[in-house]
Amino acid sequence: MQILVVGGTGWLGGEVVRAALARGHDVATLARGVSGAPPAGVRALTADRDDAADVARALAGVRPDAVVDTSGYTVAGARTTASHLAGVGAYAYVSSLNAYRDWPGSPIRGVDDPVFGEPDDDPADYGPMKAASERVLARALDDRLLVVRSGLIAGPGDPTGRLGWWLRRMARGGPVVVPVDVWDQPVTFVDVRDLSGWMVESVECGRSGAVNATGDVGVTTFGRLLELCRDVVGDDARSPVTWAERDDATLLAAGVQRWVHLPFWVPADEARALWDIDTSSARRAGLPSRPIEETVTDLWAWLRGQPEALDDDAAPAGRTRPGLPDDVEQALLG
Ligand SMILES: NC(=O)c1ccc[n+]([C@@H]2O[C@H](COP(=O)([O-])OP(=O)(O)OC[C@H]3O[C@@H](n4cnc5c(N)ncnc54)[C@H](OP(=O)(O)O)[C@@H]3O)[C@@H](O)[C@H]2O)c1
Repeated sequence: MQILVVGGTGWLGGEVVRAALARGHDVATLARGVSGAPPAGVRALTADRDDAADVARALAGVRPDAVVDTSGYTVAGARTTASHLAGVGAYAYVSSLNAYRDWPGSPIRGVDDPVFGEPDDDPADYGPMKAASERVLARALDDRLLVVRSGLIAGPGDPTGRLGWWLRRMARGGPVVVPVDVWDQPVTFVDVRDLSGWMVESVECGRSGAVNATGDVGVTTFGRLLELCRDVVGDDARSPVTWAERDDATLLAAGVQRWVHLPFWVPADEARALWDIDTSSARRAGLPSRPIEETVTDLWAWLRGQPEALDDDAAPAGRTRPGLPDDVEQALLG
């Protein structure tokens, strides 16, 4: 099959390219050329997807059988690919659980839960943008569209630095500030390799509809994940790790920013709905979930080979690297 990976030079897109090549497909990518080049053997099409004329030029004469779209960051970008790629047999669009209007304030009960769509929703905001983009693509592709409402993605190459921060913090050793309520609190994510391989397989078989694409809730807890990070870092840690448990009120009073300073943490009363996600659509659609041990182990192996990713100050351009600032940590430990 000829597969066009829109955004195929980024993290998830790069994995989609690798998965498609491994399955014997003829692969092209569409990106601006800012984030790097695709691997050898892949046709690199260069355009800014927000620019209709640029996309028309880059896609002139290009007729892929299927598209996997990993670079949906604007509604304008959805419009350009919708108009130029409406003839494809299958189109998988990477959306987000953030498309749901009432989440994370309320649980996600299923794929028919309401998504953003009110006239006063700002399409520049991430969730409304994803929901509006889904609608633009659905109008063009109808039942050839697979809407992949992804949850947290994790694994080697992760540019977000969320799980990576916990691993790097364990490697520094000593007392690690952790929220007191984490031991029973569910967390879930999808391994980047599981998601990408499954999307390639999905466009091969013409899977359509919407899927909450994340791991099963209840497979692990935040506490177990932290213990796993500690165990995976193991002898790489400068000194033994101990837990410095702090309650939500103490963390908030110290200025700890939910989700950002301690990745995956929100106060317990908010966490209940945040992690209450129906993923039966993903299980029905065959999205695999490799053991979390494998994801964490492989992420640490990748981080160890990435000196710049181990440096707290070396955030990629345009991204704020997550993690607890030193002064806030000292205040909490003092
Ligand atoms: N990370 C998560 O936990 C998570 C969770 C849910 C959903 N998602 C979704 O997953 C998708 C992939 O995320 P990622 O972290 O893999 O992204 P990424 O690494 O930032 O990659 C973005 C890709 O899009 C291309 N791109 C960006 N803007 C473009 C433009 N205007 N025109 C053409 N190409 C453009 C980039 O190439 P150039 O820079 O060269 O143009 C690159 O290939 C996104 O849609 C994101 O919303 C992520």
